[in-house]
Amino acid sequence: MSNTEFEALNQRYAIPGHVQFKEGPGGLAIAEIANSLAESTITLQGAHAMAWQPRGQEPVLWLSRFGKFAPGKSIRGGVPICWPWFGPHAEDAKLPGHGFARTVMWEVLETQAQPNGATFIRFGLIETDATRAQWPHPSSAQLRVTVGTELKVELVTRNTGSTPFQIGEALHTYFHISDVADMAIRGLEGCAFLDKVGGGSIRKTQQGPIVIESEVDRVYLDTEADCLIEDRGLKRQIRIATRGSRSTVVWNPWIEKAEKMGDFGPEGYRGMVCVESANAVDNVVTVLPGAEHVLQAVVSVEALAG
Ligand code: BG6
Repeated sequence: MSNTEFEALNQRYAIPGHVQFKEGPGGLAIAEIANSLAESTITLQGAHAMAWQPRGQEPVLWLSRFGKFAPGKSIRGGVPICWPWFGPHAEDAKLPGHGFARTVMWEVLETQAQPNGATFIRFGLIETDATRAQWPHPSSAQLRVTVGTELKVELVTRNTGSTPFQIGEALHTYFHISDVADMAIRGLEGCAFLDKVGGGSIRKTQQGPIVIESEVDRVYLDTEADCLIEDRGLKRQIRIATRGSRSTVVWNPWIEKAEKMGDFGPEGYRGMVCVESANAVDNVVTVLPGAEHVLQAVVSVEALAG
């Protein structure tokens, strides 16, 4: 983005004490949000929140120190937006995994300083011939983000055409944790899940809280429960509350897979876990003509008792 474009963006949407636009890592344009409650950085490519840190807290989102920041490349960490499909495309393996939303440009449509001190920003996915070739359905995708003591992320899909379509989607959030050995995830006890480790898709049922001691890649189905990441090392608990989300994906690549990925770093997998608010597999969503579907996640941090 040129200096003139940044100037125009700042003139229209910057708010002192809340948000400004500048060049970020790899030359990507970013919204830098800093208010009295929290800080966050969101790239315009992918409308991708890379960081969120409430004042007085350790970072809540994990971002790889070895990530690639370049036009058209997905960022390893933060909140990638998977849309309009989750995982591999159902019919065409050549299309990008998790859809194209995370690697295309989004535009800023609105910014707002909220009375409680939070900052609100709304993005719209920019359609191009390339996106239309992959997704030939008249539609619009917007992302609404509120940065405060909570991080609220809402992915809004509108069907602007005259025939229904189906979407898969995820707010593929990477959480920063002290160490995977000091962590458990609660909220999915008794839930059915699809175990994707090893490329399979075996259906199982979750017994007790989730502890991670090897590669984990699971799609929990038909659940709207809050998830709690209990982090004994950081003595805190991250709560993920959702709306419009029927699946939760839990992912940690562990040693070998992280090494193969090349953008995790040697010990990266130990300090992260993905808990993704999603609609995937059995839970893909049909959006009717003229209708809107909202996938929402609200992340907050609580002290861990004891
Ligand atoms: C998770 C999937 O959501 O994302 C995993 O369940 C996948 O199978 C992971 O490996 C990371 O995907 P990507 O495309 O960002 O490397």
